[in-house]
Amino acid sequence: MRWLFIGDVVGDSGVTYVRDVLPRLVERLRPDLVVANGENATAGRGLRRRAAEQLYDAGVEFITLGNHTFDQKETETFIEGDARIVRPANYPEGTPGRGFTVCRVKQRDVLIISVMGRTYLSSLDCPFRTVDTILARYPQVRHVLIDFHAETTSEKQAFAWYVAGRVSAVIGTHTHVLTADERVLPGGTAYITDAGMTGPRDGVIGIQREAVIRKFLTQMPVKFGVAPGARQLCGVWMDVDDDTGRALHVERVQINEAETGSGG
Ligand SMILES: [Fe+2]
Ligand SMILES: [Fe+2]
Repeated sequence: MRWLFIGDVVGDSGVTYVRDVLPRLVERLRPDLVVANGENATAGRGLRRRAAEQLYDAGVEFITLGNHTFDQKETETFIEGDARIVRPANYPEGTPGRGFTVCRVKQRDVLIISVMGRTYLSSLDCPFRTVDTILARYPQVRHVLIDFHAETTSEKQAFAWYVAGRVSAVIGTHTHVLTADERVLPGGTAYITDAGMTGPRDGVIGIQREAVIRKFLTQMPVKFGVAPGARQLCGVWMDVDDDTGRALHVERVQINEAETGSGG
């Protein structure tokens, strides 16, 4: 089976670009499962129901989140009732929403887990042990996709090696820059340090560059907005053995919008 994962979707820019290019990408790759990280889909901060619905309409089947999960007030209520949305599993006990979900793909159970690193991020529970606990609950599930949302390359690599051979894929998110290190680790675990960002290409990781530059120059509080202009889609797709759940192949994907056109 083939899985497609779309890197952090930023604002209307990212949501509309998914809508514009995902049908063609699906036609080309024919994925059996489409997952997107939606933690920045609403104005760059969090995910409101409207943005989630737009992503579903565009062809996204499941949405993972990250450190921006609760930036929008309405998220904590609507994600309770939507099993297609997965927020980091290592938030404290009692946090709204779910940290993993099980879906059916080609008559197999696929476990989708979101988990967040702790280096330069909030002090959540240990992501390594959190995933151990989840995997122990589903010993019969062989197909496991993990969105590891983390800041540092070292934490992402360490986590990937920690679960190598036990899960089908570890897809890094959060840094918004697509990395060139995708590979299948020994034991059949597809890995990439970061699936990149879907949204405005000419900002600073999706944000208006003037505001970010001002922030670095002055160290004063600055209001950040989603950058205008040409868009991009970044992500990664992988082939996973139907029976064993081992990854067979992984490949990054990037589509750039022409400066003046609306296509990809
Ligand atoms: Fe993000
Ligand atoms: Fe993030």
